[in-house]
Amino acid sequence: MKSGEDPVASIDALIAALREQGYFADRRLATAVFLALRLQRPLLLEGEPGVGKTALAQALSAVLSRQLIRLQCYDGLEQREALYEWNYTAQLLHLRASEAGHQEAGADERERELYQPRYLIRRPLLQALQAPAPGAVLLIDEVDRADEPFEAFLLEYLGEYQVSIPELGVVAARVPPVTILTSNRTRDLHDAVKRRCLYHWLDYPERERELAIVQAKVPEAAAALTAQVADFVGRLRSRPFADAFSRVPGIAESVEWAKALVALDTLVLDPELVHETAGILFKQREDIAALTPERLAQLLAPQDES
Ligand SMILES: Nc1ncnc2c1ncn2[C@@H]1O[C@H](COP(=O)(O)OP(=O)(O)OP(=O)(O)O)[C@@H](O)[C@H]1O
Ligand SMILES: [Mg+2]
Repeated sequence: MKSGEDPVASIDALIAALREQGYFADRRLATAVFLALRLQRPLLLEGEPGVGKTALAQALSAVLSRQLIRLQCYDGLEQREALYEWNYTAQLLHLRASEAGHQEAGADERERELYQPRYLIRRPLLQALQAPAPGAVLLIDEVDRADEPFEAFLLEYLGEYQVSIPELGVVAARVPPVTILTSNRTRDLHDAVKRRCLYHWLDYPERERELAIVQAKVPEAAAALTAQVADFVGRLRSRPFADAFSRVPGIAESVEWAKALVALDTLVLDPELVHETAGILFKQREDIAALTPERLAQLLAPQDES
């Protein structure tokens, strides 16, 4: 992309701009992002671990020169951690001071004074809504880990880019935040959430893209080694091999593995080396045990050119 060109003028411009930030998107993903931006809709990204869901939001915030605001979801996440809470200590001090000062203030007036915006602690959702131009990128990461009431709470934000705060009324977005939700699909999200979002399933990359990513992240690796990493990992993820493992490596693991192999001065992969470094590719004892000598031989066999 030529500098100065609008990164969201076209899908190609967006692909180029993301690449400049070190993120390699295929056309389908770039189209989904492009449309989310054009239609001002949240984008729900689902995919296996380590396929670049979080990294996309990070790259996009750089491309758009918008600040990234991240809401990491977990079981038990509450509204006050996501949206806002009142600064009770400051409110209490205010109350004491006003009691000591002008006793004559009525209860209503005191309450109004207590619930002024300066006593509001803004959490990610509210920060995103109130971000100054050009607005924020809000990453609602791993939304499948939060519980269903939290999903229901998100609906107003996702549908209208606004939230209702009882003491202050409706807070609407100054600039609609570019909103990315990610999920590992540990559970199905509610239809109402999905309906408010554009949806994209982020798959493992095809060989060329994985090669490009590893090359970009581990430039010190020789081209032949990078190619072997991409081939090996690609095979692991395809059948029949994939069926033997509970979880196959993502892009993050390919990159880590290439770094490790460089650190070990590797020129050519061999079964022993794969075995010794298997803890980078797999995080389950059973998966490492499934790397039998026979499988390793098949995985490392020269590529069939046909
Ligand atoms: N398309 C890509 N282009 C460049 N780097 C990528 C890409 N996809 C993944 N990566 C690299 O892989 C790493 C892991 O990606 P990321 O953390 O975004 O995965 P994730 O899908 O969010 O995983 P999880 O579900 O475990 O959170 C990133 O740090 C990034 O370096
Ligand atoms: Mg992530």
